[in-house]
Amino acid sequence: MKYVALVGSLRRGSYNLQLTKTIQDRYRGNFDLEILDIGVLPHYDQDVENDAPEIVKTFKNKVFEADGVIIVTPEYNWSIPGVLKNAMDWLSRVDKVLVNKPVMIAGVSVGILGTIRAQLHLRQVLASPGLQAKVLPAAGNEVLVNLASGKFDETKELLTDEGTLQHLDGVVKRFIEFVGEGFK
Ligand SMILES: Cc1cc2nc3c(=O)[nH]c(=O)nc-3n(C[C@H](O)[C@H](O)[C@H](O)COP(=O)(O)O)c2cc1C
Repeated sequence: MKYVALVGSLRRGSYNLQLTKTIQDRYRGNFDLEILDIGVLPHYDQDVENDAPEIVKTFKNKVFEADGVIIVTPEYNWSIPGVLKNAMDWLSRVDKVLVNKPVMIAGVSVGILGTIRAQLHLRQVLASPGLQAKVLPAAGNEVLVNLASGKFDETKELLTDEGTLQHLDGVVKRFIEFVGEGFK
């Protein structure tokens, strides 16, 4: 299986990137996860959407070809970062490559709430007519990693908190099943 990941933080030492790398590393026997760089996408512009820049076409094609998409994002000002919304806007137009695409959501914050407000906004965006993604239901599947500074090995750039890893194992297992259901 081929999955792609979109990471909502462009920061080099990003905890959300480290969580994504943990997912890539820990479940490599189950799926190949390619992390797509959404920071290179230009600002969405309706004037060029029908003949989008090559970099946008390549990005959209990778999402289209993927069996599943994992979005890992911080919360910025109680919502999703602009760079992630920009990627969503490109994905929502012309060829709507997220329609019925299985999507899993995860996020890391340094504060206590673990990106819950951003994730609720993201679910709303993913339900819009241009996106219509098939999002893994929230019940039991919310990956809300809070108080990040104590939960990562920043040398290895991986999540190391045992309880969080166990929860993640369950959510990813259910996501793999959820992706599989699309092919029944
Ligand atoms: C512009 C900005 C806005 C932020 N807004 C929030 C917020 O609304 N809620 C929250 O829990 N943390 C907020 N934070 C703190 C982030 O949780 C923290 O910076 C986190 O490390 C970002 O993720 P990253 O490590 O993947 O870059 C904000 C940080 C920035 C830079």
